[in-house]
Amino acid sequence: MRKLTMMTAAAALMAASTAVKAEDVEVLHWWTSGGEAAALNVLKQDLEGQGIGWQDMPVAGGGGSQAMTVLRARVTSGNPPTAVQMLGFDILDWANEGALADLNIQAGLEGWDDVVPEALQQFAKHDGKWVSAPVNVHSTNWVWANKAVLDELGIAVPTTWDEFVAALEKVKASGKTAIAHGGQPWQDATVFDAVAMSTGGPDFYKKAFIDLDEETLGSDTMKETFDRMAVIRSYVDDNFSGRDWNLATAMVINGDAAFQMMGDWAKGEFLNAGKQPDADFLCFRFPGTQDQVTFNADQFAMFAQGSEVGKEQAALATAILSPSFQSAFNVVKGSVPARTDVSNEAFDACGKKGMADLKKAADSGNLYGSMAHGHANPAAVKNAMYDVITAHFNGEYDSATAVDELVTAVQINK
Ligand code: GAL
Repeated sequence: MRKLTMMTAAAALMAASTAVKAEDVEVLHWWTSGGEAAALNVLKQDLEGQGIGWQDMPVAGGGGSQAMTVLRARVTSGNPPTAVQMLGFDILDWANEGALADLNIQAGLEGWDDVVPEALQQFAKHDGKWVSAPVNVHSTNWVWANKAVLDELGIAVPTTWDEFVAALEKVKASGKTAIAHGGQPWQDATVFDAVAMSTGGPDFYKKAFIDLDEETLGSDTMKETFDRMAVIRSYVDDNFSGRDWNLATAMVINGDAAFQMMGDWAKGEFLNAGKQPDADFLCFRFPGTQDQVTFNADQFAMFAQGSEVGKEQAALATAILSPSFQSAFNVVKGSVPARTDVSNEAFDACGKKGMADLKKAADSGNLYGSMAHGHANPAAVKNAMYDVITAHFNGEYDSATAVDELVTAVQINK
């Protein structure tokens, strides 16, 4: 009986979607940088080609904290957007509130369960139902470098922490900015993802940020992580505070800075500026994390507009998961596809590396949700960690105090 019901509903949905021109979709997102907007245009044009109009609702603010605040206000006022860019645990939180539409018909018709990695499914499904459409897989433990600056200073790609510090020292001595950084909590936390993984390794990272193990959070290794964050702090320029991430990327693009530690959305900025991997810039895993990937997947969660998923929501979800879109979008965005059956042919050297790293990490149990981008724990814990990491980065805490504050903050918010 169930299969018949599914097929009947599917037939009705397909009939509706082909017979009636779909209306607009209103999409809330935070993709406001040059590279992000270029990638978003791929989706807008894809939908326009299907007769689906796009009502844009951009909310500036990297990492999406501001967007999530605006979303809460929209839903509280009883006027949720059609679809919302969302990360990890935020999706599950909204699903727990019963706010998201059921995408199981599309997922069943299109075989999402067979091609979307388990690491993404754990955030895209709730109670066995698909509630969001995965767009990509980003990862945070990357370093972006200006090739000409490294060549000029005779710096090879660092593979260890000590080699990285030596490279930073060489750049600083040359008078250039060693690390381009934006002093915002989510950016400090993005750097922390990689430094923690590099300092303590995958077991330490998992125990501390995914399991919230108190002993690990309060360990000497965590103190060493904060000590290394203080070293990073000594290599950023004086005007780092409050800088938007893409303006820091521009410093590396223009050769004013040598390195930026940032997720691979930064690659979208290089591409948008007409730069090419290996020729103009280098991408490499943060030294000491070459075998791990700390990931964050962008998904579009569909807010329930009634008992059935809207036809435009269904069409949006189908467009997002289509292999052709998955290639065209991620090539521009700097991320890798959310499907495992997409060829890497259209991707550049950094994209190919990202896809290979993701597969290797997933196959070897080295794939971990990014703490900084909502894939390790719910927002209350993530934000509590942001506060401690940023306070330390800004010199309000020494490392020992930061460790104590981290343990306390997690105890209160988990
Ligand atoms: C991440 C998101 C990326 C990019 C980045 C900077 O959380 O997954 O797509 O938007 O923030 O804002």
